[in-house]
Amino acid sequence: MTAASRAACALLLALGLAPGAQAELRKFDMTIEEFDFEVAPGLTTKVWAYDGQVPGPLIHVREGDDVEVTVQNNTTMSHTVHFHGTYQTGTWQMDGVPDVSQKAIEPGDSFTYRFVADKPGSLWYHCHVNTAEHIDLRGMWGPMIVDPKKPTALEKQVTKDAIVMFSGWDSSVAKEYGKNGVPHRELDYFSINGKSHPGNQPIRVKKGDVLRLRLYAPNAPVAFHLHGHDSLVTHKDGLPITPYPVDVIAMQPGERYDLIVRMNNPGIWMAHDHIEEHTTAGGKEGAGSMLVVEYEGIDKPGFYMWKDVAYDPDFYLSESLKKPYGKHNNPGFMGFDPALPRPAAPAAGGHAGM
Ligand code: CU
Ligand code: CU
Ligand code: CU
Repeated sequence: MTAASRAACALLLALGLAPGAQAELRKFDMTIEEFDFEVAPGLTTKVWAYDGQVPGPLIHVREGDDVEVTVQNNTTMSHTVHFHGTYQTGTWQMDGVPDVSQKAIEPGDSFTYRFVADKPGSLWYHCHVNTAEHIDLRGMWGPMIVDPKKPTALEKQVTKDAIVMFSGWDSSVAKEYGKNGVPHRELDYFSINGKSHPGNQPIRVKKGDVLRLRLYAPNAPVAFHLHGHDSLVTHKDGLPITPYPVDVIAMQPGERYDLIVRMNNPGIWMAHDHIEEHTTAGGKEGAGSMLVVEYEGIDKPGFYMWKDVAYDPDFYLSESLKKPYGKHNNPGFMGFDPALPRPAAPAAGGHAGM
């Protein structure tokens, strides 16, 4: 360190600016749990889930941080964690691919992933064992947000952040592990953050908000459309691009797009996957991958389906993203309360009788 940079550091410290300005060690414990998870009234499906949640917990760190995640496998199947997007510079053994970069974590065992958060943006993590089952059908995915050291001028304007993870489910293999649904995998339930509409939540905004939608397509294509507004696509797979306006954005599995929307048109607005079969659940319409963006202060008409919904301000992790860096759980995504004894699996269950 030169005398000049030492002086600069001393100045930052004196100004109280150092915390957060330098790389920190972010250390987390995470478990993998096995249970029955309700996606929709007609579909309870077997999952393996990080920390017992679908989506898995939010991991929120800053670019350059050292990340250490110890994963305990409490299930009957082997798993890994692949931190999708992270470059793993010099740490390829932490890439989470069974029989390529590590031995899978066996039931009852644990493994510690250590790496630098060297790529910023809307990243995610998922299991890399038999992905046609573990990602596709068993909910083994969650968001990892790595704040960039140098945010763009546009993203500095964001006043409200929302993480929106789309997924499809195959009810024909919901009740039995070991089925990956191929060939002829048929997704027949669709969800946002693990819940099929109307079991999900509105995104509430104020006029003047600058809303960032962090869109994820873990296991199925999506054609996202927000009514009443154009969105600026600002980031693709975590990295900034030259922003361009859209009213529909198409995504393939694995992709992420950040959309920034100026909330300048008060109302109650539908937002949905425009692949029409994805707006169904077990063949019923008006369900699946749909949500509503509600402006505060709008009188909700009597017929409005979510007029009296019990509002969870963290369903899109908007509140968690404001908390200090760390791992953030959302009890609403859990299949059970980890503080309580585990519930027995439902005796007969609710999938759309195949
Ligand atoms: Cu797995
Ligand atoms: Cu991946
Ligand atoms: Cu529409």
